[in-house]
Amino acid sequence: MKKIRIAIDGPAAAGKSTVAKIIAEKLSYIYIDTGAMYRSLTYKALQNRVSLDNEHALAELLLDTEIKLVASENGQSVFVDGMNVTNAIREAEVTNSVSIVSKYRSVREEMVRRQKDFAKNGGIVMDGRDIGTHVIPNAELKIFLLASVDERAERRHAENISKGFPSDLNKLKEEIELRDKLDSEREVAPLRKAEDAIELDTTSLSIGEVVDKIMHLVLERI
Ligand code: CDP
Ligand code: CDP
Repeated sequence: MKKIRIAIDGPAAAGKSTVAKIIAEKLSYIYIDTGAMYRSLTYKALQNRVSLDNEHALAELLLDTEIKLVASENGQSVFVDGMNVTNAIREAEVTNSVSIVSKYRSVREEMVRRQKDFAKNGGIVMDGRDIGTHVIPNAELKIFLLASVDERAERRHAENISKGFPSDLNKLKEEIELRDKLDSEREVAPLRKAEDAIELDTTSLSIGEVVDKIMHLVLERI
């Protein structure tokens, strides 16, 4: 069977990583969460007290940073320079700073270089903001996942509660709206639907329904 490349983009908490992981598992493909890569650099910059205003220092830091995404029982574990940061990169401090780090051209160039390298042999599901537009512009299948901001905030809230994390629904909604705005309005590779991407509004769909719809599109292509 032909091993295709699947690009999944969309705003925060639209369900990208949840469905991308399931689809990769069903197809025995590699799954790459590119958001985890930007979060990893942000985490290391905060740890090393590198100024988030200093593009050059952030780009230099990235060149000196090994980011490993390893398939694990609960999806994917993330290692920065050998240290497991899977949970640390989801903390509020990183979440609220990551859109600053990801706006810089020189940071994105190095991230995209690494991401293209992961995708070069096909058999991959990659999720992010610019996968269909910049990282794999010739992907065989491009999906743009959407859901209303209220639904996305509710989903993240439910996820936090289930993990026993503190969570404030109104604050989450504000954070998601701000991050979407920064990601959509930045100059370099903003969050945007690729012209040939298939848009899927998941507001009233379950995870299983979204997966089924995407799998249908995958099977048409392999
Ligand atoms: O999972 P969630 O939607 O909260 O975010 P994420 O996918 O982990 O991405 C975190 C941040 O990384 C985004 O808000 C973007 O600022 C940045 N990002 C990006 O610029 N380009 C990508 N391909 C992926 C993420
Ligand atoms: O990767 P992204 O930020 O786009 O979203 P996610 O982390 O995959 O999904 C955010 C939350 O929404 C997770 O807790 C999913 O289980 C949940 N979700 C859902 O309830 N219904 C969907 N159709 C998709 C995701």
